[in-house]
Amino acid sequence: MDLPNPLIVGAGPLGDELDTVRALEDAGAAMLVRRSLYEEEITGEQMDGFRASEAHNGLSAEAETFAPDPETALGPDEYLEQLQAIKAAVAIPVIASLNGSTRGGWLSYAALLEQAGADGLELHIYHAASDMTASAAEVERHAVDIVAVVTGGLGIPVAVKLSPMLTAFANFAKQLDRAGADGLVLFTRFHHVDIDAEELEVVRTLPLSDSSELSLRLRATAALAGRVDASIAVTGGVHTGLDVIKATMAGAHAVQMVSALLRHGPARLRTVRQDVEVWMVEHDWASLGAMRGNMSLERIPDPAAYERANFRMALR
Ligand SMILES: Cc1cc2nc3c(=O)[nH]c(=O)nc-3n(C[C@H](O)[C@H](O)[C@H](O)COP(=O)(O)O)c2cc1C
Repeated sequence: MDLPNPLIVGAGPLGDELDTVRALEDAGAAMLVRRSLYEEEITGEQMDGFRASEAHNGLSAEAETFAPDPETALGPDEYLEQLQAIKAAVAIPVIASLNGSTRGGWLSYAALLEQAGADGLELHIYHAASDMTASAAEVERHAVDIVAVVTGGLGIPVAVKLSPMLTAFANFAKQLDRAGADGLVLFTRFHHVDIDAEELEVVRTLPLSDSSELSLRLRATAALAGRVDASIAVTGGVHTGLDVIKATMAGAHAVQMVSALLRHGPARLRTVRQDVEVWMVEHDWASLGAMRGNMSLERIPDPAAYERANFRMALR
């Protein structure tokens, strides 16, 4: 997709209110990703047909990632209605996000989202790493299969949002790329889990991020830049104009922001955009395209700078 600037509003609650969506567009957001529609939220009745014919093999994001609380979760009808309302309210592209677990579930709901007017689809893929029955190769094969089925069945661009916890990240990303993913979104951010030792409860929180989360994404983006056909978007830890510059230098085509906008409001997007422009003028960069990937693994003279072997140097 050809965007006027690289600032995308990432999946989450920011698309819930039309006024907020309009304010984000006014502030210069190039695109908006809706919160995920979770296959688990799709009513049992609607999914029974699929579940009966397909094994539920553990690609369930719901349990571990952004499972919306039942109060705010949207059923599929409501999700489609909201998508149409947002499309009618703003001119920027609106991307639907789908988090499913069965092959049939992904495809059938992806098609409904396309019909409802989504300009693109973000597949939020996650496998519970505590599952002892599935090998890394099986998990990857299933995910690649889903991506191939969805991209093959849709006319709109499809991006895949990945978990950072993968054994062979670059290889997996390349498989998704070959399977037809138009975009790779790096990375999902997990709930924090803690144990309340008095109450014997597992406590789940989702604190907002800060720029320190960017490091992991920079490394992964730098590893893929120039080596996949898919566009790359960074999500996680993008808070400032300089964060956008760094992501671009690593090789990102776009960034997604959520925490910064939840913390400071939609107008923050305008500030970040202006900061990017000022930085570029001050440092004589004519375009983001010119700097994109200049710090990627392929293009820096010392690729080992991104690698683990540099512990000793970092500690010096
Ligand atoms: C309250 C909240 C809700 C979120 N809901 C979703 C979601 O439904 N689907 C999804 O893929 N990511 C979801 N995310 C993750 C964000 O899209 C984003 O990847 C993550 O917060 C990292 O970006 P940030 O550092 O800019 O916040 C959510 C994040 C927050 C804070």
